[in-house]
Amino acid sequence: MSQRIYAMPTDITGWTVPGVANVQFNWEYDNGRDKLLSLYEKGKNKQWNTNERIDWSIEIDLEDTAGMPDEYVPLFGSPLWDRLDRAEKNRVRHHYGAWLNSQFLHGEQGALICAARIVETVPDIDAKWYGATQVMDEARHVETYARYLHTKLELAYPINPHLKELLNNTLTDSRWDMTYLGMQIMIEGVALAAFSMIRDFTGEPLSKAINAYVMQDEARHVAFGLLALKDAYADMTQAEKTEREEFVVEASYLLRDRFLAREVWENLGFDADECVGYVNNHQMLGEFRKALFSRVVPNVKKIGLWGPKVQEAFVDMGVMQFQDMDPDESFARDESIAEELDRLMEQGRHREIRYMWETDAEQVAETIAVGIAAEEAGE
Ligand SMILES: [Fe+2]
Ligand SMILES: [Fe+2]
Repeated sequence: MSQRIYAMPTDITGWTVPGVANVQFNWEYDNGRDKLLSLYEKGKNKQWNTNERIDWSIEIDLEDTAGMPDEYVPLFGSPLWDRLDRAEKNRVRHHYGAWLNSQFLHGEQGALICAARIVETVPDIDAKWYGATQVMDEARHVETYARYLHTKLELAYPINPHLKELLNNTLTDSRWDMTYLGMQIMIEGVALAAFSMIRDFTGEPLSKAINAYVMQDEARHVAFGLLALKDAYADMTQAEKTEREEFVVEASYLLRDRFLAREVWENLGFDADECVGYVNNHQMLGEFRKALFSRVVPNVKKIGLWGPKVQEAFVDMGVMQFQDMDPDESFARDESIAEELDRLMEQGRHREIRYMWETDAEQVAETIAVGIAAEEAGE
């Protein structure tokens, strides 16, 4: 991506993370586990091309980039927000949308690099095969968000320092399970929840499609992490598990704080401390930041990293209510939404897509009908 669309200066040469990984060969080519092999099959069958599946001709209104109500801007309702005129508010929305999507983009590049690392370091052949499909998925995700930022939003932000620190911690550890844990369970878990909020609440069809299709792949990635880590952690000593649990706690706080968006407020010339203070104490945003963990907490529990330190941290963050959510149900929902979108996209029914956020086909049809009726009544 050319430097000119960055809102803030960024390193021209990129970022180098030193580290040594133990590359593992495996000569047992017929030793696959059924569940992992079926994920691998799915990974092969569900490949798609962003240039064909997504309708890039959809125009974006730069005055209303996210197609979201003002309430979704974290500063909404603050004294600062109330002082801004309409054009200034739209500028904040544009920058916040670009910042959020830029973090998706940089996170996807992290996922691409982690997936490639996993192919090298994981000992089992079935996991290497599956991981190879994920490398391709992540390349497509990077391509997709880069294209969206570059050609549609025309604005991008550098990587958020909290996300960068977590990626660094994930990549400097040479153990394969730490790459999975950091990337597949923590970073992708939070990403899934963030994508789903855009997918479910934006009225803008391009963003909705991008996030729905990326999520369809991400659900497989998290499912893979769950399967592989559940097996690995079942055989670990308590000391080894405790070390992983400490990593989970640290990663959770880093991911939560990433959503304060300090860089945006600084870049726009606002009092960043005042903005962060507001964002931190705002009740609806607090709920939003908790919801980001809805796809992390049940998975951490499922892989067996459920010691007292993890539970204490989740109680402190107010996210324990997610512990018994069923990941398979969420994955099935992600699949059905992406398929429904394909159907509507094929028919060019962008208007219907604006109202699409329900789970099953019947509900989708009903919500669309209600939305359009309300729109027509108001016009
Ligand atoms: Fe991805
Ligand atoms: Fe992924």
